[in-house]
Amino acid sequence: MKILVTGGTGYIGSHTVVELQNAGHDVVVIDNLSNSNELSLQRVAEITGKKVDFYNIDIRDFNALDSLLNNHNFDCCIHFAGLKAVGESVQKPLEYYDNNVCGTVSLLRALNKHNCKNIIFSSSACVYGDPEFIPITEDCPKGKCTNPYGQTKSIIEEILKDLQKSDSNWNVVLLRYFNPIGAHQSGKIGEDPNGIPNNLMPYITQVAIGKRKELNVFGNDYDTHDGTGVRDYIHVIDLARGHVCALRAIENKCGFEVFNLGTGHGYSVLDVVHAFEKANGVKIPYVIKPRRAGDIAVCYADSKKAKEKLGWGAQFNLEDMCRDSWNWQKNNPNGYNGG
Ligand code: NAD
Ligand code: WQD
Repeated sequence: MKILVTGGTGYIGSHTVVELQNAGHDVVVIDNLSNSNELSLQRVAEITGKKVDFYNIDIRDFNALDSLLNNHNFDCCIHFAGLKAVGESVQKPLEYYDNNVCGTVSLLRALNKHNCKNIIFSSSACVYGDPEFIPITEDCPKGKCTNPYGQTKSIIEEILKDLQKSDSNWNVVLLRYFNPIGAHQSGKIGEDPNGIPNNLMPYITQVAIGKRKELNVFGNDYDTHDGTGVRDYIHVIDLARGHVCALRAIENKCGFEVFNLGTGHGYSVLDVVHAFEKANGVKIPYVIKPRRAGDIAVCYADSKKAKEKLGWGAQFNLEDMCRDSWNWQKNNPNGYNGG
């Protein structure tokens, strides 16, 4: 298939481009490089041996999308482009609603105009809020998101649902990601956060490489086996392959479908710290801090639906994720800026 990948120079997008090219798909990437580096696509080409067609386009720029779509006939769009920093979204809600929600509406208008009515959207487990039950199935009611970032995901889901309802030629797959970590085994592409990492694994790898003194563990008084927060960490390669599998649902004219992409296993913050130390032989000093505002105690997926309907399941375990995260950080101490 010929696939338009928005946000394809970013963390999950670049890994997905590798898996799409490996599966024989023809890929065009657009990105405004607001949170990424074009070098990631050069690295993708080193991995796959195939050059990636790239355009610097902001998805809010309808005219730019219109002329791109005049020149290419896409079978499907995989839509990663968006801002994703939870804390920043609380400070700059208008930027998040404009970029994520208005950007998606602009993209959908352009796709609709050019009759490309197939889309796979990067949603998030955060749409479940504090989940009503665990493990979380796709039938779990959506909850109250505690931040504008999460709201944008939930709103975009509703927009896509309404669009598909209005026109059954549309096929929409919502993929609700749990916690992606890890990197390509080559160590050539990985997560390259700006400034102080918000997320656990990039913070751990920066402690390991000596950029940060110690990990702050946000709370050890949750109702979990060791008191620290439990999440469903998933290898980014498994996540990327989930998109390749989701294309099958699109090909089968699925209408509107929602899938969780998680492993189904929950690990605490300290489980991850210990797994990282064991996998890599590196000590991670940590201190216990108060809970982080907006955090929930436990979040992990029931991923049976993706197994049954997409034939997709996670292949990598926590040790693999810790090893590959560290391999990327070690090889690229300053991310893509190191060259
Ligand atoms: P990322 O920041 O690495 O990638 C997002 C990409 O989108 C970046 O390259 C950025 O430059 C680009 N972008 C942002 N706004 C744009 C715009 N207006 N026009 C064009 N490009 C734009 O993030 P990621 O971790 O790869 O996440 C990809 C998607 O998955 C995002 O939508 C994110 O919200 C979602 N998601 C991520 C996680 C996670 O933990 N990483 C979890 C759930 C969902
Ligand atoms: C994981 C656990 C923290 C950092 C976020 C977004 C979600 C999705 C994935 C984009 C929690 C603890 C963390 C640190 C810590 N993103 N922690 N010290 O919060 O589950 O999900 O990223 O879509 O929408 O909310 O991920 O990696 O930030 O935290 O103790 O320095 O690690 O409290 O228990 P989270 P995370």
